[in-house]
Amino acid sequence: MKIVSLVASPRGMRGNTAALLRLVLEGAEAAGATAETIVLPGNTVLPCKACDSCHKKGACPQKDDFEAIKAKIYESDGLVLASPNYIFSVSAQMKAFMDRCCGVIHCMSFEGKYGVSVVTSGGGDEQPIADYMNHFLITTGITPVGSVCATMGGVSEPAFADETKREAIELGRNLVNAWKTRAAFPEVDRAKGEFKNRMQLLMTYRKEQWPYEWEYWRKNRGLT
Ligand SMILES: Cc1cc2nc3c(=O)[nH]c(=O)nc-3n(C[C@H](O)[C@H](O)[C@H](O)COP(=O)(O)O)c2cc1C
Repeated sequence: MKIVSLVASPRGMRGNTAALLRLVLEGAEAAGATAETIVLPGNTVLPCKACDSCHKKGACPQKDDFEAIKAKIYESDGLVLASPNYIFSVSAQMKAFMDRCCGVIHCMSFEGKYGVSVVTSGGGDEQPIADYMNHFLITTGITPVGSVCATMGGVSEPAFADETKREAIELGRNLVNAWKTRAAFPEVDRAKGEFKNRMQLLMTYRKEQWPYEWEYWRKNRGLT
């Protein structure tokens, strides 16, 4: 299994979120995966400009790393999203990546891949953020397998409780096993089905304005 991980923190690999991610990848690699980690420091994936090019042409004209990252995700089997809690939400770096995936979401074109989410915070409130990232994964077509969170509190160096370490390593292992067995999760399938119906309706409304996406649905899902 090939895994791509995105670390959306300006502290990059020195940060708490990357430290927790490393444990997830330790579990995934022990289960046979290969992993590539990409840091989103804030200037490599810029905010969406709402130009609609992704819907019309299938690619973003902005000259940054987004298209290359998207290509790496298409070539992979799994995606790990790792973000710090920034004011009760994902970091702006992660949100910019999510917004840039608008075209992917309309086509749910990451379908077939598996994913997990990783969140750290200073004082708590991580789980709604992890749930939000996993919901985002669903809308791209990815099946989320779970999440792991950690409250760092007053510690200056990443120091996780033994239980958090175990949870993170197990999450990585579960990700690989889910991919190996093509595991299905009824709640995820239901949510994906509902979202796909919404996107299908959107395509029928917008087929004139968004030819790339209409063609994707026509070719890949037989929409007429
Ligand atoms: C701009 C900013 C906003 C933050 N907002 C919150 C917050 O709302 N709640 C919280 O518990 N921690 C918050 N934190 C703390 C970080 O979530 C925490 O230190 C996290 O582990 C940082 O991860 P990193 O080292 O990977 O960047 C914030 C930190 C920054 C820099």
